[in-house]
Amino acid sequence: MGKKKVNVLIIGSGGREHAIAWKINQSQLLNKLYVAPGNSGTHNIAKNLNINIDNYGELKNSIVKNNISLLIIGPEVPLVRGLHDKLADDDDLGGLKVIGPKKEGAMLEGSKLFAKNFMQKHNIPTANFKSFNATNILAAKKYLEQNQPPFVIKADGLAAGKGVFICQELSHASKIIDEIVIDGKFGVSGNNIVIEQFLDGPELSVFILTDGDNYKLLPSAKDYKRVGEGDTGLNTGGMGAISPVPFLNDSFMQKIKDRIIAPTLMGLKKEKIEYSGFMFFGLIKVNGNPFVIEYNVRLGDPETQVIMPRIKSDLLCLLLKMSAGKMFAQSQLDISSQAAASVIIASKGYPESYTTGHRLRGIEIVEDCSIFHAGLKLLNKEYLTSGGRVLAITACSKNLSSAVQKSYEGVGKIQFENIYFRKDIGEDMIK
Ligand code: AMP
Ligand code: GLY
Repeated sequence: MGKKKVNVLIIGSGGREHAIAWKINQSQLLNKLYVAPGNSGTHNIAKNLNINIDNYGELKNSIVKNNISLLIIGPEVPLVRGLHDKLADDDDLGGLKVIGPKKEGAMLEGSKLFAKNFMQKHNIPTANFKSFNATNILAAKKYLEQNQPPFVIKADGLAAGKGVFICQELSHASKIIDEIVIDGKFGVSGNNIVIEQFLDGPELSVFILTDGDNYKLLPSAKDYKRVGEGDTGLNTGGMGAISPVPFLNDSFMQKIKDRIIAPTLMGLKKEKIEYSGFMFFGLIKVNGNPFVIEYNVRLGDPETQVIMPRIKSDLLCLLLKMSAGKMFAQSQLDISSQAAASVIIASKGYPESYTTGHRLRGIEIVEDCSIFHAGLKLLNKEYLTSGGRVLAITACSKNLSSAVQKSYEGVGKIQFENIYFRKDIGEDMIK
């Protein structure tokens, strides 16, 4: 490939997109970097485009005007809605390459039922399940009665990470079903539900970059989803992450490749579903064997904040090769042997109600960490909190324990009213 430099646009506004932007910004092949809409962190390294990404006309104008060659779609919603398809079908955007699957491939995340049926059909290990809807709600309740708690109930469609319920009591499970299917708690996303077997074991996330034929493994990660220490309290978008996952040894990785990654790509091929982009396997280890909890068709947040700092290769170069269909199979994706830890600094009260607009201090005195912004805005040269998850502080070091320590040293420098963070990120994985 020649050394032609390209303009890149990243869609999204979270810590994940800041971390992707941070990595792409280091590329030899980058001309100009844009993020839409971006945040206060991407503002420092790229040009934020103040456009409504749900407005196709606005997005298209920006792509043309800024001569974008490569578009990276960060979050799942535009992928599931078919943004890639729309861009690919647009004759005015012939040269544009898009990272992220088209609508059909995005169904792996967009519909739990689709994903479960897909896994069943292609013999990919996952929890046993049955699906129900408003026409057979009594059968759903009967099914619960025939099974033992905990009961796992999932809304079929996208629910911003809030559509999974694990209930200890039959009565609670039954109420949840009514809320989703009858009361429409998640709108059409809850027209169907999946009830599945509860799996018990440690969770981990594995990520690949694939053109549908070949794939490159990205660093593995473990995120901390619950708001409270010791994995207690409400589920959040994620309160921290570590990479690599200490219990992911070579033999377990081999099982994941053979039983999950390869059959997933093969299954997509058999079903003639094109897939290119990132794929995120949410896994659980039960009796030494991997099971799929969920597929995501994008990178994770805050997993990306520990993945990007561990990638040594030029990611943009790899993305360009992949999307041009050239030399992707032969290229290497080199990963640092260092460990990474990221702690999310949040607003107290998140994921429920919290206050914003608090002045944040200390960013400039954090040392030897990468700081990824999420819920912050810049006003008159001051940072003010503007969201539930405010910042991610990532540190890399020779081992997990020192990476965690370094990250918490960084966290300790940050101050704002109603600051909250978990104090135990990575602790369960440090021997
Ligand atoms: P998901 O949104 O599908 O990632 O589910 C959210 C969380 O619910 C997962 O990270 C797991 O902790 C838990 N979970 C989902 N499905 C199961 C299952 N079948 N057994 C046990 N835990 C589950
Ligand atoms: N951290 C989990 C996710 O991005 O879905």
